[in-house]
Amino acid sequence: MSEIKNSLFIITGAGSGIGQALTLKALAEGAHVIASDVNEKGLDETIAKTNGKAEKYILDVANHDAIKLFAKTILQKYPDEKIILVNNAGVGLASGNFTETPLEDFEWLMNINLYGVVRMTKAFLPHLVQQNKGHIINVSSVYGLAGMPTNSAYCTAKFGVKGFTDVLKAELLGTNVKISSVHPGGIKTNVAKNSRISVTQDIAKAKATMAKFEKVALKMTAEAAADVIIDGIKKDKSRILIGSDAKALDFMVRLFPNNYHKIIAKVFKL
Ligand SMILES: NC(=O)c1ccc[n+]([C@@H]2O[C@H](COP(=O)([O-])OP(=O)(O)OC[C@H]3O[C@@H](n4cnc5c(N)ncnc54)[C@H](O)[C@@H]3O)[C@@H](O)[C@H]2O)c1
Repeated sequence: MSEIKNSLFIITGAGSGIGQALTLKALAEGAHVIASDVNEKGLDETIAKTNGKAEKYILDVANHDAIKLFAKTILQKYPDEKIILVNNAGVGLASGNFTETPLEDFEWLMNINLYGVVRMTKAFLPHLVQQNKGHIINVSSVYGLAGMPTNSAYCTAKFGVKGFTDVLKAELLGTNVKISSVHPGGIKTNVAKNSRISVTQDIAKAKATMAKFEKVALKMTAEAAADVIIDGIKKDKSRILIGSDAKALDFMVRLFPNNYHKIIAKVFKL
């Protein structure tokens, strides 16, 4: 069992959805929380909900220099605390099939959803290893376990987060530093409505598809998802699946590794 109480709980993407809910839950668990986001308005809302108890940092996880400065500032201020770092910030992209996906949108998404996680880990992990304590939680997705049509960039990034985390799990064996990947199914947040729409897409059609997806697939609340993550951290789970949809998809992929894409295509009537 891992203690969250008195830890230094650092969250990226804390201005909305799962990150905001996690900020509140971690505070309730007795952690000192550093809430960061690129979106100041959302982050201010989160900080207001904590009655100013969480520390606020504007941080763009796509900016390597900003991350280096952020880590330096935090580690100088809190050199001895046990760090729990949740790499949660992420974005969505409505770009159609891969052939319609502009490479610049693919790269934009990878820069946030994959390299953001890699950069943050690079900035903090050496300190955790040196201290021989702490926990990094990387938010992937069920789309990091199953390939989903029209999500080439998102799935590539989220599979990348899983692969990266799995490598570090092996490298950190024998230390007291923990690392976990999180695979949520559909969670009711702003991720779909804030998705970038590629120039190749019809905007009205893309918005209608996203609204439908939101209604049909995003069922669980961010609070319930945050509860599962908090529970997973406490239990030192190395892989945290969130929701029955995530569990069902994960099972299907393992049961039909060669053919699950055909089932997915049928279900999504492609
Ligand atoms: N909601 C879901 O159904 C779902 C499912 C699986 C995985 N996820 C993942 O969960 C994580 C949280 O997403 P959410 O659903 O709460 O979405 P959300 O849109 O509500 O919150 C994402 C937050 O990340 C922030 N962000 C975006 N780009 C950033 C950047 N460059 N630097 C720092 N912050 C940035 C946004 O400002 C926002 O506050 C994401 O990684 C997402 O991919 C979500």
